[in-house]
Amino acid sequence: MSGQPALIATCAQGLEPVLEAELRALGFPRIRPLRAAVLFGATIQDGYRALLWSRIASRILFEVARFPCADRDELYDGVRTIDWSDHLGPRSTLAIQFVGVSRTLRHSGFAARVVKDAIVDQFRDKHGQRPSVDLDDPDLRIHVHLAAGKATVAIDLAGPPLHQRGLQREAGPAPLKENVAAAILALAGWPAAAREGRPLCDPMCGSGTILTEAAMVARDVAPGLHRTRWGHDRWRGHDATAWKGLLEEARQRKEAGRTVEVGLYGGDVDPDVLPFAVRNLARAGFADVVGQLVCRDARTAQAPEPIPGLLVTNPPYGARMHDEARADELLRDFGDTLRHRFLGWTAWILVGRPRQARALGLRPSARHPIRNGRLDARLLEVSIADTPPRGGPRGRESHQNSERS
Ligand SMILES: C[S@@+](CC[C@H](N)C(=O)[O-])C[C@H]1O[C@@H](n2cnc3c(N)ncnc32)[C@H](O)[C@@H]1O
Repeated sequence: MSGQPALIATCAQGLEPVLEAELRALGFPRIRPLRAAVLFGATIQDGYRALLWSRIASRILFEVARFPCADRDELYDGVRTIDWSDHLGPRSTLAIQFVGVSRTLRHSGFAARVVKDAIVDQFRDKHGQRPSVDLDDPDLRIHVHLAAGKATVAIDLAGPPLHQRGLQREAGPAPLKENVAAAILALAGWPAAAREGRPLCDPMCGSGTILTEAAMVARDVAPGLHRTRWGHDRWRGHDATAWKGLLEEARQRKEAGRTVEVGLYGGDVDPDVLPFAVRNLARAGFADVVGQLVCRDARTAQAPEPIPGLLVTNPPYGARMHDEARADELLRDFGDTLRHRFLGWTAWILVGRPRQARALGLRPSARHPIRNGRLDARLLEVSIADTPPRGGPRGRESHQNSERS
């Protein structure tokens, strides 16, 4: 065994720099980016604070051991050396997640069984009883990561992944994960823009994930505050006093942020999907934003306020919902709408294919790679000139008229 215990925040690949910046802004010490993860913090309280306040992390892992591991025997011995009675009891249930391979440990299912055997053998030898496996709702989730000949064993403090905000959201056919939406908002500089009173508009908002996350940021609502299940609930090392204190602080901050004015605007052309956004925002406590949602074609959208703001949106890629040609045509017309009606705004548009980026017809000042589920997407950052181009938007008359929801 070696090294000081550490906390590991995991994330979608590509989001490491955004997560790193978020953890720095939260004030954690000892931050170091890894692949699809960021090392941070020093204490279990740091882990709890990240659970409640990281909008971008997928999981928070609390490292309990790290050891050289070349094969099955080293894995078994290393796991068995940990005193598991610090973490669970002989009648507890557990689930193992094993990530990584070595020359001789090529199958994660096999490696996970070796880890489980080492733990249950320790209990059987000491107590004559052993924990059992429960993959759905275990008392403890144990995460083992094998890379470069080293195994890292950690307690998964999150339990259900952190993008689940505990709000039972209703999702349309292609929803963004909440933590991906939060990462996009962080890249777009929404926290500062919200403080400056600038508006944010998502004219293809679907079930309203971007708007809900934006409201949470603006009103200082901890992303974990509504969750009721955590990985540490039945962990023997859980510090209930520290956790309660952090929850209470998060409740007070939410209360203090309740009256913050926030200019959020959204729309969607699909009358069946827009009610999801309305209900999701209401469920999250942002019913006052709901009056600003409109059922309309994004190509007829207007800047909702005279102050230039951020337009953040995730149009159909063409892969799952529209066919590609229709998705490209939509972006071509939408690019026109932006040039003529969103003067001085900054647009952040998540596209799934390079052709979509070209179809927009606006030169992005940056392209950020973002993994969205199984898609390698790109977030385009586009500064829209504050003077209109000559001529009106193409094909405007052919689009349906605005209509309030
Ligand atoms: C990828 S989904 C957005 C998902 C959303 N970010 C969420 O998390 O639910 C794209 C959305 O664009 C909407 N859409 C497609 N064409 C549109 C148009 N011309 N105007 C406005 N919305 C449109 C679809 O109805 C769909 O809800």
